[in-house]
Amino acid sequence: MTRAALPVDLSGPQASWPGAALRLWRDATEHVLAQPDVWHPAPIQGERCLRVTLGAILHEDPDQILITSGVRAAASVIARGARAVLHERPSFTGTVAVLRSVHPDLEILSWADLLAKSRSADAAAGGTVIWLTTPCRNPDGATLARDVWEWIDAVDPADQVVLNEVYRWFGLAPERQVPERQGRVWRTGSLSKLAGGGAGLGWIRGRGVENLAERQHSRPSRCWQRCWCYLLEHGAIELFVDHTVRPAVAASRAFTTELRRVTGIDHRPGGRLPPFLLLPVPTATGREFADRLRAEGIHVGSGEDFLAPTPSIRVCFVNVSEAAARHAARRIGVRLAGGP
Ligand SMILES: Cc1ncc(COP(=O)(O)O)c(C=O)c1O
Repeated sequence: MTRAALPVDLSGPQASWPGAALRLWRDATEHVLAQPDVWHPAPIQGERCLRVTLGAILHEDPDQILITSGVRAAASVIARGARAVLHERPSFTGTVAVLRSVHPDLEILSWADLLAKSRSADAAAGGTVIWLTTPCRNPDGATLARDVWEWIDAVDPADQVVLNEVYRWFGLAPERQVPERQGRVWRTGSLSKLAGGGAGLGWIRGRGVENLAERQHSRPSRCWQRCWCYLLEHGAIELFVDHTVRPAVAASRAFTTELRRVTGIDHRPGGRLPPFLLLPVPTATGREFADRLRAEGIHVGSGEDFLAPTPSIRVCFVNVSEAAARHAARRIGVRLAGGP
């Protein structure tokens, strides 16, 4: 077995680009820059060609897609039309920050509490945005189960459920996924998790999102949108999935298998292999546990930074080799079991 090089970075580095995708980007700029109207403003809902291409990928009507520069940009547009916001926890805090900047009284709740709250009397005024991430919620990899979908179907039509699908390519294989419900749900996502945080391209999709277009005061340039359209038409998603998603799933499998061997506990949420996990730790804070691991050359996130309610660490498998994942699992497993 190859020895993992130290340090091992499980703190979630940016996705990188495969050579074939870089070559496509070069071809794309050459192709797009030859178009005479490339520096004209983009239509407010987004370039038609991009919405058609994305629509085919996301199984969505192109007329019900609004192009954004990412999930946080989408959160800003959605927040401005909401009366109140209920946001999941634990969570990536970037969306909380954007939504809270418009709604300082935003509430953060577990999925179970969101469920109860949306049925309570004070939710009855309508206009409440209920924000969830699925599949593979960051940081714990949770994915909505069938019974939660039934709850979503029962949410008051005057409220708006928003599903953050930024990790959609890290979810179950399509044949094992619960079929998408159309209904009143809006979905928002971006290419940040496939192509890096600077990808600068996202969407909101679902019935009625075209009405949000006027509320979005800035959007990716026409040149940028057409370049991304070119990449997506030429198979970029598959390139990124092969380069980033498949290795992350393999590292997740290596990590969870080794951790189960050392601790006897299966940490896979619902038996799935998400690109990250939230592990409960026996120290007073997750940060304390993370600092101890850092001293051994293993870098992890702490649950506090993801609004986790109890001490925990977040381990992320993007850009991590299987050998490194196994090595980290062994060290973390020993520490979780109270060893040195
Ligand atoms: C759940 C979640 N949503 C959104 C983002 C960021 O997406 P964007 O760069 O498109 O705003 C992240 C980044 O870590 C994330 O974890």
